[in-house]
Amino acid sequence: MTTLRESFGDCRIIVTCGPGGIGKTTSAAALATAIATNEPLRVLVLTVDPARRLADALGVPGIGNEPLDVELAGAGTLSVAMLDPQASWDALIRRQAADEETAERILQNVLYQNITRRFVQSHDYIAMERLHELVGRGQWDLIVVDTPPTRNALDFLDAPTRMADFFSSRFLKWIIAPARSSVTSLAAKPLTYMADKILGNQFLTDITEFFLLLSSLYDGFVERAREVESLLAEESTKFLIVSTPEPIPTREATFFNQELQKRSLRIGGWLVNRMLPAELNLTATATGVAVLAREEMAQVASLIGVDVATMVAARDRMVAITEEYTIVADRERAQLAALAAGDTPVFGAFTAEGEIDTLQGVTSFGQRLLSAERVLKFD
Ligand SMILES: Nc1ncnc2c1ncn2[C@@H]1O[C@H](COP(=O)(O)OP(=O)(O)OP(=O)(O)O)[C@@H](O)[C@H]1O
Ligand SMILES: [Mg+2]
Repeated sequence: MTTLRESFGDCRIIVTCGPGGIGKTTSAAALATAIATNEPLRVLVLTVDPARRLADALGVPGIGNEPLDVELAGAGTLSVAMLDPQASWDALIRRQAADEETAERILQNVLYQNITRRFVQSHDYIAMERLHELVGRGQWDLIVVDTPPTRNALDFLDAPTRMADFFSSRFLKWIIAPARSSVTSLAAKPLTYMADKILGNQFLTDITEFFLLLSSLYDGFVERAREVESLLAEESTKFLIVSTPEPIPTREATFFNQELQKRSLRIGGWLVNRMLPAELNLTATATGVAVLAREEMAQVASLIGVDVATMVAARDRMVAITEEYTIVADRERAQLAALAAGDTPVFGAFTAEGEIDTLQGVTSFGQRLLSAERVLKFD
């Protein structure tokens, strides 16, 4: 039997991904915490979620762009950082620009500020870029990366390629060409003036300047985008697809699973999260309630001050609910078995009681994930 931990072997990067709101951030934090507790590894969890809840659970004042140490009594160490797209972009520009003046001009450019603040695509790229930078620091044995709830979860995977393509594109060369030539630039002056009049002060000037400045970063960007790409493809990078047993998240995750395979990226497992708790022995409970004798019913009824008919109705309702619950639980198990028929190792995780909002809660959820056993095809 393979456990989820075994399935991820000695990989150095674990990327949790999948549809929105199904537990990517929780699983990333829980896995990182439990691994750092059990093993003598320096673990970093890089989250995209500014959730205050997570910071509180991990006992850090707030999660920021720079990694913070989490106080943990374990064999290893745990650090946590949050992806702040704007701060990461600014840091990247400062690192890559030829000199300080160029960096400042880019940072002050209105278009740059809009793109890096508002465009989700720019966040996808910077998430991967940031990962590359943190790996480069060599301070961690394992980095668990949480990913944004992108509508198209593939965007962040393709972001490095798209960035490299953009920098090599004819579009970029075309747009900055007039600015490079003083003759065209003069000829284009009235046009620029008009555009500024219509689109607002400085608009076109800003665009041209932005792309011109950006082109000075060309080599560095293309090279880094390629490096990020190969980092994702490395043998020590594995993906954990997270979904719930519901049809829509399952469909999205299935698609994502196929796309990862198409790209020959490694999938360590598919976690079906938030399944109905297994502890409830449903049939026994239902039967127990159903066989309550009428006399017992009468006793209980008088004890709590209701009539027997109300008690019987309540009992029937409970039995019906329990039966429905059993049907759903059975369906979830069947779903799990069906997914397990594919090549990707499938693991299940039950809904935890209450919120997972303390270090102990996060750790114990993580421990359960690590020891989850691969669902066999014929379970
Ligand atoms: N197995 C579980 N049992 C109970 N609660 C869970 C479980 N997994 C996740 N949750 C809860 O579900 C909520 C959503 O989880 P989380 O924020 O990790 O999802 P996400 O996939 O990162 O969402 P988003 O796509 O918005 O980033 C949280 O309140 C979390 O505590
Ligand atoms: Mg999240």
